[in-house]
Amino acid sequence: MEYSCKLGAAEKIRTACLVVGVYQNGHLTPLGQALDTAIGDQIKRVLKRRDFSGESGQTQMLYEPRGCAAVRIMLFGLGDKKSFSPSGFGRSLLPALQLLDKTDALNCLVLLPNETDDDATYRLVREGIQAAESAVYRFDQCKSESTPPKRPLKRVDFLVHSRTQQNAGNRAADHGRAIGLGIRLTKDLANLPGNLCTPTYLAERAQVLGRGKRKLKVSVLTEKQMQNLGMGSLLSVSRGSRQPAKLIVLEYRGGRSRAKPVALVGKGLTFDAGGISIKPSANMDEMKYDMCGGASVLGTIAACVEMDLPINLVGVVPSSENLPDGDANKPGDIVTSMSGQTIEILNTDAEGRLILCDALTYTERFEPAAVVDIATLTGACIVALGDQASGLMANDDQLADELLAAGTACGDRSWRLPLWDEYQRQLDSNFADMANIGGKGAGTITAACFLSRFTKAFKWAHLDIAGTAWNSGVKKGATGRPVTLLTEFLLRRSKVKM
Ligand code: BES
Ligand code: MN
Ligand code: ZN
Repeated sequence: MEYSCKLGAAEKIRTACLVVGVYQNGHLTPLGQALDTAIGDQIKRVLKRRDFSGESGQTQMLYEPRGCAAVRIMLFGLGDKKSFSPSGFGRSLLPALQLLDKTDALNCLVLLPNETDDDATYRLVREGIQAAESAVYRFDQCKSESTPPKRPLKRVDFLVHSRTQQNAGNRAADHGRAIGLGIRLTKDLANLPGNLCTPTYLAERAQVLGRGKRKLKVSVLTEKQMQNLGMGSLLSVSRGSRQPAKLIVLEYRGGRSRAKPVALVGKGLTFDAGGISIKPSANMDEMKYDMCGGASVLGTIAACVEMDLPINLVGVVPSSENLPDGDANKPGDIVTSMSGQTIEILNTDAEGRLILCDALTYTERFEPAAVVDIATLTGACIVALGDQASGLMANDDQLADELLAAGTACGDRSWRLPLWDEYQRQLDSNFADMANIGGKGAGTITAACFLSRFTKAFKWAHLDIAGTAWNSGVKKGATGRPVTLLTEFLLRRSKVKM
């Protein structure tokens, strides 16, 4: 998809469709009003018929408007003006763009609803692009016959008021397009089933990402190499699988050569059956999404490379399957992690932390300025926060605040849970340095407590994305979260103009 921002009189611009937001009770935006005046109140006359109220989600197509260079005008509801927000704008625009994707129109021009503010323009264009990317996303690689739209949307432009708004909007277009690319990669990898998206496949895709890119180096550690590093915890999980585990390492050098990198560590569990502590079979298919943390690391790095962000980044993705097998972890087994700490595995289904702890210890060698790990780690996080916010836990308040603020700005939000020392007791083991589960209560927090024992060497934040990374039910599929949050965080860290 192509995006850009335009200046000029809407009625004079040649496009397949002018996309015009209308607030509830028929109020037009300034650009919408100017257009309607120029075309002799044709929009106002439609609104008078009251078929269309401006409620968010509504759309109304007008064909061949007189006095207008556009072939169509599509009205879409912006909802209540008082509760208008950039993310609300994106939500309202989505159904309009979904509809347009199915029409003969190959392009459209969206009139932005704000008058002056450059920051607001940046946000609205970012949200608009996110809606467009989501409208045209399809995952049909595994269907023998797919029926894509004959003339899908190829280009979405945005109409703004001023030159400075146009500049802000075009920055947003660059960033939005790159983030869209990253989200697409993350969704595609996550939607692929476990038999196709194995640790080896994930590693190959990471290597493809690095191909031909001077600033991005990708390496993949084998089980043998992990063995030599003493990654007994990670390897204990993959022992129950016929697919060899991989440790994927990406190094992006966009910043000054001496600047410490930000490290992203993502859980890449390509299928989680639970192991010997096997999961119930209902909806177990959804555990192919247990690699969404890893996929979001690849997606975020892809976006940063695309934007040529002036920052140094490291991505570490431990990848494995978790299956029952004669050689699999058994409850009560004790393993030794790369850090030297021993772990009593009381539940083989708490495997995410077992692969992450060794990946986190490995990350120390990059002397990172900050580490963010991303994992579909606990069902308890879905209970606590549902699908609205990712769970955020951190050993550094400033890092936590940065992530919270980035999430609020871009709409991909997280919510902080405490990591008080008092919770650590729940991990006491009679036989090893720690147990891999924390018993009843605060499951999301005790999982983070476990990880915190491997992150003492750096500033660290943990994102539990079990509730946000995919949708269940009829609209089952990966969401691409939290690529937007992570990229927003990195854009801010690298101080590029937004
Ligand atoms: N991948 C799961 C977490 C999960 C569950 C994500 C449901 C999304 C939806 C993780 O490996 C797991 O099984 N966690 C256990 C931990 C428990 C055994 C302490 C859980 O949440 O039940
Ligand atoms: Mn599990
Ligand atoms: Zn898991």
